[in-house]
Amino acid sequence: MSDSFIIAIDGPAAAGKGTLSRGIAEQYGFHHLDTGLTYRAVAKALIDAGLPLDDETIAEKMAREVELAGLDRDILSRHEIGEAASKIAVMPAVRRALVAAQRRFSERPPGAVLDGRDIGTVVCPAAPVKLYVTASPEVRAKRRYDEIIGKGGAADFDAIFEDVKRRDDRDMNRADSPMKPAVDAHLLDTSEMSIEAAFQAARSIIDAALSRNA
Ligand code: C5P
Repeated sequence: MSDSFIIAIDGPAAAGKGTLSRGIAEQYGFHHLDTGLTYRAVAKALIDAGLPLDDETIAEKMAREVELAGLDRDILSRHEIGEAASKIAVMPAVRRALVAAQRRFSERPPGAVLDGRDIGTVVCPAAPVKLYVTASPEVRAKRRYDEIIGKGGAADFDAIFEDVKRRDDRDMNRADSPMKPAVDAHLLDTSEMSIEAAFQAARSIIDAALSRNA
């Protein structure tokens, strides 16, 4: 067994996995990596350099240079960057480079929480805890809508809803590492669950796994 206790958290955008992952990492004193930021960082680097988003060789080179330490959520959270990220995320060479960096991160003792789309299936298939956090597309679109309105922005619910479905479709139907629950993942549907309830459910799953590992 490695010295790191790995918690793999997967699921679609806006299902609550980011908040949950950060809370879990804090609770257990583990490192946390939002792997979506690694795809976003590659996309942003390409956009900033004026490079194409459909050239796998160029995108792979960028992916090899990504520095996991410097990923800034605020800068990378822009909508266009998310869209571009999901386009370069279909490229196997990009995935290989980022998965290698994510695996190195997962080995940091005493433990690491990684969240993304393929952590339990591809990046850390031996993780002792795997959660798949999901919610209906309507609920996820509504959360995103409320978040934008809450920050004083303007938002169009129907456009957001279409966007959520388009992103799900691209993530679930790509050939390499499609988004899906690992066979041994615990499903947490947060459609009608508060973040606090999801956190408590996750804690009891993690505590049980930690006592099996002790
Ligand atoms: O989670 P986030 O919206 O930041 O991810 C941006 C995009 O990166 C996703 O739509 C997905 O296409 C891709 N991604 C991925 N595998 C991961 C994490 C993110 O393909 N482990």
